[in-house]
Amino acid sequence: MEFFLDTAEVKVIKKLSETGLVDGITTNPSLIARSGKDFLKTLKEISKIIKGPISAEVTALDTKGMVQEAKKLSQISKNIVIKLPLTEEGLKTCKFLSKKKIKTNVTLCFSAAQALLAAKCGATYISPFVGRLDDIGENGMSLIQDIKSIYMNYSNLKTKILVASVRTTEHVIQSAIIGADVVTLPPATLKELSKHPLTDKGLDAFLKDWKKTKQKIV
Ligand code: G3P
Repeated sequence: MEFFLDTAEVKVIKKLSETGLVDGITTNPSLIARSGKDFLKTLKEISKIIKGPISAEVTALDTKGMVQEAKKLSQISKNIVIKLPLTEEGLKTCKFLSKKKIKTNVTLCFSAAQALLAAKCGATYISPFVGRLDDIGENGMSLIQDIKSIYMNYSNLKTKILVASVRTTEHVIQSAIIGADVVTLPPATLKELSKHPLTDKGLDAFLKDWKKTKQKIV
């Protein structure tokens, strides 16, 4: 299972990439706005740090505009993945770009039907938003299970499930149990994954006992 970071903060990406756990990056217009930085420059900087897929979202609403933006974004680096909204125009653009072998990430997916359409249009990734479904009282993880079951029924559907809007470590674990291909994580959630109170407690006890031996390794 791959881990992408869901952020446009270059400093954070640099720091967390040192863990060796970051396989790719996802951005969206809200994350770019939050960073306060220039979109195209930010993508260029990220592409110098991360060699895996970097999702960059179009903002045009029609296919013609989306294709124009996709061309410009693709020129930034060869690992840019074009993020498209799950609308009719987005799906049309997805089909067009996939024929041209340009990688796509179809975003804002909230139903299994939408995920099926994205796969039929040749999307490289589908991004179902689990946290936002939980927010409205639905079950985000059962959508991931449904998409996985549908995709497994048809060997010609090659779209990867990229679990987005991840809020908790439990989302990550459940995604792995279901067999999702990728989770995109807010930096805080990635850090949270390595933590357990018994690890801290155990390490503390080991170090106290080690001190009593008055030994050194180096
Ligand atoms: O990048 C898309 C997605 O991960 C957004 O998450 O937390 O804004 O629902 P969130």
